[in-house]
Amino acid sequence: MNAILAFESSCDDTGVAIVDTDYNILANVVSTQLDHSLFGGVLPELASRLHLKNIVYLTEAAFKQSKLSPAEISAVAVSINPGLIGSLIVGLSFAKSLAWSWEKPLITVNHMLAHIFANFLEHKSIQPPLLALVVSGGHTELVYFSTLTDFEIVGKTLDDAAGETFDKTAKLLDLGYPGGPIIDSLARKGNPEFFHFPRALNRKNNFNFSYSGLKTAVLEYLSRHKPEYIEEHKADLAASIQQAIIDPLINKTLTWARQNHIKTILLAGGVAANSALRIQLSEKASRLNIQVFYPSVSLCMDNAAMVGAAAVPKFLHQQFSSLDVNAFSTKGTRNL
Ligand code: KG4
Ligand code: ZN
Repeated sequence: MNAILAFESSCDDTGVAIVDTDYNILANVVSTQLDHSLFGGVLPELASRLHLKNIVYLTEAAFKQSKLSPAEISAVAVSINPGLIGSLIVGLSFAKSLAWSWEKPLITVNHMLAHIFANFLEHKSIQPPLLALVVSGGHTELVYFSTLTDFEIVGKTLDDAAGETFDKTAKLLDLGYPGGPIIDSLARKGNPEFFHFPRALNRKNNFNFSYSGLKTAVLEYLSRHKPEYIEEHKADLAASIQQAIIDPLINKTLTWARQNHIKTILLAGGVAANSALRIQLSEKASRLNIQVFYPSVSLCMDNAAMVGAAAVPKFLHQQFSSLDVNAFSTKGTRNL
């Protein structure tokens, strides 16, 4: 058995995991930095400091959970982009120091690719070709995989990401942060057809997304109605906004899959936890004889097990990084 020790520190969750090369999770611990909710968003400097505070004891906890010793680890994996640069540097520096002192190979991983690979931890039979819909706080991408290591972005957001839109519209409705899970649960009590917010780029064969107009439409709607009316219809508005966010995700994903004869769709990223998106995409896909996979809710959120999973094909192909590799905040690895 080969075991990979993996680190995730790209945003506000510090994660440490140990995953084997058959995608089994041997340990998975995450510390979510709740301190940021005071600020209505992630405070980068605070995030780096909290990663630094948490990473050592989380590593000890991961070893304890797995009952493995450092000598039984075959490689050290870490996410190096995209993300908050100060936060990424904490995880990378720690991973490098362990790889160097234990003389283990270092594997660097793209965070968005890691989200997609979270699916393999629970559904080991998944085989390419497949289409992945990656939806998170900073990303909205449709990615076609011809093999596990060959992929191409076939659609992406031109402005705001889906998760960002959940967060920003929740802020406009004064619901709190992060907005996605709050809108998700409020929407269950509301009517998604209460108000029709715009769906942008709603043209055939356009696989890009755009959400900045939706944010403006919500702002305009709120300015045109009395606070008491908004309060009374909060659940209806949450359901209507949620539907306007997920409709383009569902329609474009299924259209691309159908046109390109894809029978497997993977949902990934924080927004993949959205209950309406999971249900509606699966139902519509099954009518087209397409199978949809998504990770359990805890593995949709940032965690290190998904980083370990994305490191598996790299480990098997011996794609190791040198110890002078740098983290970078922007997209990379063929723009994922
Ligand atoms: O993947 P993630 O944990 O961090 C990034 O890599 O960005 O995603 C966080 C995003 C946030 O925007 C959050 O509001 C959204 O995922 N999110 C949800 C749900 N749970 C988290 N959005 C909609 N419905 C949810 N249940
Ligand atoms: Zn993420």
